[in-house]
Amino acid sequence: MLSREENDLLTRVGRGTPAGNFLRRYWQPVAVAAELNDKPIKRVRILGEDLVLYRGQDGGYGLVEERCPHRGASLAYGKIEGDNIRCVYHGWLFSPLGKCLEQPAEPDDSSFKDRVKHPGYRVEKLAGLLYAYLGPEPAPLLPRYDVLARNDGVRKIKVHPVLDCNWLQPMENSVDPTHTTYLHFGGTGKPIHGDVKKAVDKHDFEAFEHGIMKKRYVKNGGGQLALVNAHPLVFPNMLRQCHGREHYIQYRVPLDDTHTAFIQVYFTESKDGAMVDQPDDPPLEYLPPYKSDDGVHRMDKVIAQDYMAWETAGAIYDRTREQLGAADRGIILYRKLLKEQIDKVAAGKDPIGVIRNPEVNRLIRFETVTDSARGD
Ligand code: FES
Ligand SMILES: [Fe+2]
Repeated sequence: MLSREENDLLTRVGRGTPAGNFLRRYWQPVAVAAELNDKPIKRVRILGEDLVLYRGQDGGYGLVEERCPHRGASLAYGKIEGDNIRCVYHGWLFSPLGKCLEQPAEPDDSSFKDRVKHPGYRVEKLAGLLYAYLGPEPAPLLPRYDVLARNDGVRKIKVHPVLDCNWLQPMENSVDPTHTTYLHFGGTGKPIHGDVKKAVDKHDFEAFEHGIMKKRYVKNGGGQLALVNAHPLVFPNMLRQCHGREHYIQYRVPLDDTHTAFIQVYFTESKDGAMVDQPDDPPLEYLPPYKSDDGVHRMDKVIAQDYMAWETAGAIYDRTREQLGAADRGIILYRKLLKEQIDKVAAGKDPIGVIRNPEVNRLIRFETVTDSARGD
């Protein structure tokens, strides 16, 4: 159980909030790059900020606050000129990072434009996604996680419907392995009640340099515990999963306090380890809604079952009313680490998993273990 203050501390993501400051220390995916192929300007919302993402005529990207700082018109209607974007109301021109470059109606010798501050953020492309960095300079490196940067296999992207709930609900589920036996196995008609302790004899949660490694053991014939599954929650808002040769990242990106984007990047290793020429933009799939317009969830798919559990806890789950047991120790560890990282950021330090060393960032591999059983 958390106090109201603790719940607010971990869930609120807007500018200037403690968790918002913490989350802004990491690159976050804001769009699929291919979405800008036909229309080069897209509105995006992230961490409670309304922004305009655009592709410049030179192929670079800009990300600026949507509302023009002059008189408030939307830059989503802007005109792209080279790298820059021009507001169509009175013609102010902005660089990709929000520097005001021109104000056509002002006197030629005016220095007004140099005093205009308009929020703008760095954007980089990797594995077909556009990532933004909304934190203070110097920006860390965009992490080259294995799923995003390996070339000995093929990649694809799945974009799920926006979750109508706070980001922490799907993230806490990533360290909640006992739900699998009930929520998911129950949905497929496999045994449920009474089997949860047998299905997995032991769960372990170990903090490591990128987050929390989740481990599952079962007793083998000789009564020894054997490791059958290990995969990490990667800070701050990723689950790094695997099934056989298929590896994937689930991103849970806070759009604001009560909406969360859910994006998956899959990487399937070649059988023989052969390198594969990678397309600029991996194949992309948009998933249809998991609930009807009146809010009734489908329960016939694993992800739909998860959506039900995450969204029905409330727009921001009220953790002053929860009752955690021994099986929930992964959630307790995650909250403890989150709180420590929020404190670190408040003290001006880099939180866990922020990468600044290019050598380390050549390829960041996660040591996962997988069996045939599905789990998340
Ligand atoms: S409102 Fe954008 S230039 Fe005036
Ligand atoms: Fe699940």
